[in-house]
Amino acid sequence: VGQRYEAETAPAVCQGTIDSNHTGFTGTGFCNGTAAVGAYVQFTVNAAQAGTATLGVRYANGASSGAARPANVVVNGTTVGTVSFEVTGGWSTWSTKSLTAALNAGSNTVRLEPTTADGLANIDRLDTA
Ligand code: GCU
Repeated sequence: VGQRYEAETAPAVCQGTIDSNHTGFTGTGFCNGTAAVGAYVQFTVNAAQAGTATLGVRYANGASSGAARPANVVVNGTTVGTVSFEVTGGWSTWSTKSLTAALNAGSNTVRLEPTTADGLANIDRLDTA
């Protein structure tokens, strides 16, 4: 059974503001990360057992420039990959990016760390499969 981790709910960390001005999010808001390289959102993901996990990151990118918002995927402090949050068509249009990552049994940190000055897309939540 998958678990849902909202970006606005501790122990998640949002280096930016929790906003609710664009509809369609779940929970009470979403993380609008600061527009800066490295301004991250971090989820704490619990895994029943060690192994490869599929993680869905729900996000919106309504940038009128059409530019994606690329980020490093950092699991338990190690960069394990990259993800490109492409435009979704509007800030109220949400899409899900699927990532795979090796997790430890128990608690893991999964951090999305933007690599451009635009910062992250707006991040709603992370789901396990
Ligand atoms: C707009 C939008 C924000 C978004 C920001 C951005 O200001 O309202 O929700 O985070 O653009 O470009 O990241």
